[in-house]
Order: sequence, then C-alpha cells, then structure tokens
Amino acid sequence: MTRAPAPNPRHLLARISLMSLLLAAGAAPTAVQAQTATKLKVGLMLPYTGTFAALGTAIENGFRLQLAETGGKIAGREVEFFKVDDESDPSKATDNVNKLVKRDQVDVLVGTVHSGVAMAMAKVAKDSGTLLIVPNAGADAVTGAMCAPNIFRSSFSNWQPGYAMGEVVAKKGAKKVVTITWKYAAGDESVKGFKEAFEKGGGQVVKELSLPFPGVEFQALLTEIAAAKPDAVYTFFAGGGAVKFVKDYAAAGLKKSIPLYGAGFLTDGTLEAQGDAADGLFTTLHYADSLGTPRDAAFRLAYAKTYKLQPDVYAVQGYDAAQILAIGLNAVKGDVSKKAEFAAAVEKSKIDSPRGLFSLSKAHNPVQDIYLRQVVGKENKLVGVASKALTDPARNCKM
Ligand code: PHB
Repeated sequence: MTRAPAPNPRHLLARISLMSLLLAAGAAPTAVQAQTATKLKVGLMLPYTGTFAALGTAIENGFRLQLAETGGKIAGREVEFFKVDDESDPSKATDNVNKLVKRDQVDVLVGTVHSGVAMAMAKVAKDSGTLLIVPNAGADAVTGAMCAPNIFRSSFSNWQPGYAMGEVVAKKGAKKVVTITWKYAAGDESVKGFKEAFEKGGGQVVKELSLPFPGVEFQALLTEIAAAKPDAVYTFFAGGGAVKFVKDYAAAGLKKSIPLYGAGFLTDGTLEAQGDAADGLFTTLHYADSLGTPRDAAFRLAYAKTYKLQPDVYAVQGYDAAQILAIGLNAVKGDVSKKAEFAAAVEKSKIDSPRGLFSLSKAHNPVQDIYLRQVVGKENKLVGVASKALTDPARNCKM
C-alpha cells in the first residue's frame, strides 16, 4: 500500500497565513463573488457551413454588436465564447451540444438555426438545466411540448409567419393553394400554420409538395405546380436553398402566372443573390428593412458600420438573444444559478428590439407583430402589419 506523502509544513504554513490575512481583511470571497468574477462562458452553437452558413454568421454578428454596446460585458462579467459549427445536422446535434455543456461547461447556450438541431439542444438544456436562448430555429416544440423555465427564444415559432400569411392570402381571395417546402419540422410547421389560417379564411390547400432538407432539386416539383394551376403557392425555404428556389421559380416562368408567397425567410439576407427573380414577392415576418423607427435606424447604422453589411432578421434575433441574456443576468447580478429569478425578470420585461417592442409569452416565445413585406429592389419593404401581437398557441406547453 502506498501512503500519501506527508504535507510539506512550509506550504501548509504559507496557506494558513494567506487565509488568515484574507479573513483579517474581510476579503474571503463568497461563492457568488467568486462566480461573477470569472468570465461568463457563452456557447454559440450555429451553422457556419452549409445552406444556413450566412444565417449563423449574422446571428453571431448581432449578438456581438449588442455585447459591444454594453462595453463587452454582461452584468459586469467579461464574456468568453465557445463555438461549435452544428452544420445544420440533427444527427450530430446531441454530440455537438454536449461538447459545449459537458466539455466546455458553458453558462449559457445560444443556438441554433435549424429546427431539428434546436430540438436536440432543447432536450439537453432541459435535462441539464443549462440556460438556452434560441436565436432562430422556429420548432414549435421548443416553446411547446419541450418548454422549460430555462429555455427562451428571441426569434419566432414556425407557426407564426405561416399563420399570418394564411390570413393574408385568404383575404387576397385565393381559393386553391399548393405548398412547397423542405420535409422537416420547420417546413412542415410553417405550412401547417399557413393552412390553419388559410382554411379558416375559406381557402383550401390542394397539394403539399416537399423535398428532403437541404435539397435544391426543384424542377420536378415546379412541373407539378404548373400542372396543378393553383391560385397561389405558399413556401418555406431559407438561406442558400431560398436563393435557388426563387430563381428557379422565376426561370420556370411561374412567377408571372402563379403568385408566390412565403414566410419572410424566403427573401431575408438573400436579395443580393436573388436579383430580379425576387422582385415584387410578398412575405410575412417579424422584421422588415424599412421600419423607419429611430431604434431600428440606429441598429442598422451600427451594424452596417461594424460589419460592412446590411443587417437582416437573423442579425436582429442574435442581437435580441444578447438583450434577453443581459436582462436576465442583470436581475441576478451575473449569478446564472438563480434560474427562477432570471426567468421572472425576462418574463416581465419588454424587449427593445429593432423589430419593435416585444415581450415573451408564458412559454418564452416572442409575442410580436408580424409584418407584410414586399421586395422592392434590394429591400423587404414594409407594407403593413399582417398580424398584431401574434401569440404562438404554445400547444402542449406545461409550465
Ligand atoms: C428552422 O429550421 O427552424 C429555420 C431555419 C431557417 C430559417 C427559419 C427557420 O430561416
């Protein structure tokens, strides 16, 4: 049997005298002081490659811009970032989120774009109690069946823009609509929201077309649309896939004969690449390029100066994720362990977003105006409010 070596009496003495010095000076740090003096570990889990790569970058840019506006600190704590490229791949999502939670032991998770990946993040956050702020992914379940006191969303639910557009298209008098999207949670739920409002308004969805994410082989489906001759088409695509879809729709000659409507992701952050093919398209979203408020103008100017880029909805959602984190952490003086107080502060706040003021529902999803926008040149121009203070139904959220 080996024995532990006897303590070196000189080290022991040094430690005892340091401790008595600290105590004599009243300087023994409390647990909270010890925690808040360390850097706040923020885990960014976002797509940095693939069809949503630009969306991930815009979210990080927005988050960092808000942080810079508060001197690079949140609730007095310096911030250290830990980053994972989730590749918008749900099959790698649990391993990826555990790199941040178990290996890096982050204080807060911020992510992600893809609904399937976000659901894996929500499961880990719920099980581990780690704070999660979702800066895009609309998966209804994140603030529905999987809702939790430590999970917040700064973006939207997939239901929201879809539902608002269902009302708009019904009011325009369309009767028969074909939908087309990627076959995964975001596409399915966006179409479901659209269908709910559109059919309530007297219309009918006559065909639901889809292809696997992140596929862009649209030709056969466009041929089906042409043959079905609906009054209109509703779609959910985003990022690189949205660029290709809008161009292919126009190139197939459909844009002139069958109006195309979409959740606003179809034309957000994509207009440079879409060119004329996007001109005139109507979409619904919780942001537009020409809101004209002083708050939005200041945000847009600061973003353009910092990144030499125009902001989009993803930048706004990243910015607001940082705002939500700051509101919660300021209320608990930087102590992330105070989950209930963090949540209470966020729940009663009005978030001063570039999109306009919004609050969070009981399930922690934004209650927000959904705008109707139209593409004019390189802008998603504001047409009006399609749905005022639209609240996600938060189906199956028990909290
Ligand atoms: C989603 O997967 O929830 C998603 C992805 C990209 C968007 C919007 C929603 O632009």
